[in-house]
Amino acid sequence: MSNGIFCIKVYGCQMNAYDGDRLRCAMTGLGWTESSDALDSDAVIFVTCSIRDKAEQKVISELGRFRPLWEKNRRPKVALIGCMAQRTGAELARKFPWVRVVAGPRHLGTVPSLVAESMSGGVFLRLDSDQAEREDLECVPMPKDNPHKAYITIANGCDQFCSYCIVPYVRGRFASRSSKSVLDEANRLVNRGVQEITLIGQNVNSYGRDFAGADENYRFANLLGEVSAIKGLKRLRFTTSHPVDFSDDILEVMSSRPNICPAVNLPVQSGSDKVLREMNRKYTKAEYMAAVKKIRAALPESSITTDLIVGFPGESPEEFEESVSLIEETRFDLVHTAAYSPREGTPAAKRDDQIPGAERAERLAVINEIQSRISSEINRELLGRVMEVMFDEAAPKGEGLLQGRTVTDKVVLVKAPREMTGRFRTVKITGTGPWCLDGELL
Ligand code: SAH
Ligand code: SF4
Ligand code: F3S
Repeated sequence: MSNGIFCIKVYGCQMNAYDGDRLRCAMTGLGWTESSDALDSDAVIFVTCSIRDKAEQKVISELGRFRPLWEKNRRPKVALIGCMAQRTGAELARKFPWVRVVAGPRHLGTVPSLVAESMSGGVFLRLDSDQAEREDLECVPMPKDNPHKAYITIANGCDQFCSYCIVPYVRGRFASRSSKSVLDEANRLVNRGVQEITLIGQNVNSYGRDFAGADENYRFANLLGEVSAIKGLKRLRFTTSHPVDFSDDILEVMSSRPNICPAVNLPVQSGSDKVLREMNRKYTKAEYMAAVKKIRAALPESSITTDLIVGFPGESPEEFEESVSLIEETRFDLVHTAAYSPREGTPAAKRDDQIPGAERAERLAVINEIQSRISSEINRELLGRVMEVMFDEAAPKGEGLLQGRTVTDKVVLVKAPREMTGRFRTVKITGTGPWCLDGELL
């Protein structure tokens, strides 16, 4: 088996991070050596995202950089995989001749052998329609950055077809993994020293909806219960949840299992019922607010975060204001905001009432400023509190600072020795801002 140098670049959501980790583990298992320098590698693997135009443009400009090297020595060979590969990969392979492997998210398992084959010439495309069988990669990844934390994808694809979103087209239909394979993977990770697991999917709380036969009634709450019962697992998280499937049994397990972190990302997308209807979100603002109220009643110490899109086609200034009042009223710990980006092939992109780009940017700036104030206010109340933090890694800025997370997933920067990475420590909060907290070891 060939064994050159490879480099892997990951964009997009945590599902891609998980796929990237699995590929890394498969490639090194086959004798490849990883490098962080794309230009010095034999093979470069791009794990790509199509959620917004910006995510795609970043990869396209990266791809352009290989031209001089390729023209000189036909190196490196590039593999384009993930959501963008599924959407426009074939076209990009024609445009950039160094793209030698193109594989969609359902064909991850073919990537290591196709990359090896591409070394001796040829271009390989693995792009299929939804019905095609998944070619998965059987590899339990060990994440590179922090061996104490790991993700597990529990369901692939999405069936919701929100009118703005490309995910169902590039990731395919919603398909839950078997609980046995999820539990096996979780057990193996914990045996290898992982202390925190995050269950991921576009819609984790719909887990099991597609089961039939003996598993017909097995749902997300059951899975949470079984994974949280694994001895040695200190923290269990999950993301993302769709408001339509956030059922009471999930809250029941969350409140009865101390190792399930009381943190919920519940994307609202808009505060206007008209916009929500046009987005095909299948809930009203009132139903959403009722779900938030229920979470707060069941888990008083929880953090709730959300995703919100501004400038959806036809969104009037008044409807935008409804989103502003929703975030004022709800007071989320954090809001992942985005300006609407038209995705070719989705119903919303075909509308003729698109909001001009400058207006979308303006609304984004307005909402970000308001949320930044709210997050600051919420965090300020944590000043002086004593909390348990798990240290993740060196803080990106600041000498001698480690970055950790609270149980509600807030970032805390603490002066602590490097060796404390992966450990749990009690810290006192000494400073607060909108995005992170400062703390000191007790
Ligand atoms: N499945 C989750 C999240 C999916 S993608 C959910 O239902 O909410 C992550 C976020 O990207 C979305 O929540 C949405 O806020 C944003 N997003 C998706 N498509 C977008 C688009 N076309 N333009 C701007 N933001 C988008
Ligand atoms: Fe996209 Fe909607 Fe599915 Fe989320 S639920 S991935 S926003 S289609
Ligand atoms: Fe992006 Fe695909 Fe994830 S479009 S957000 S990488 S599912």
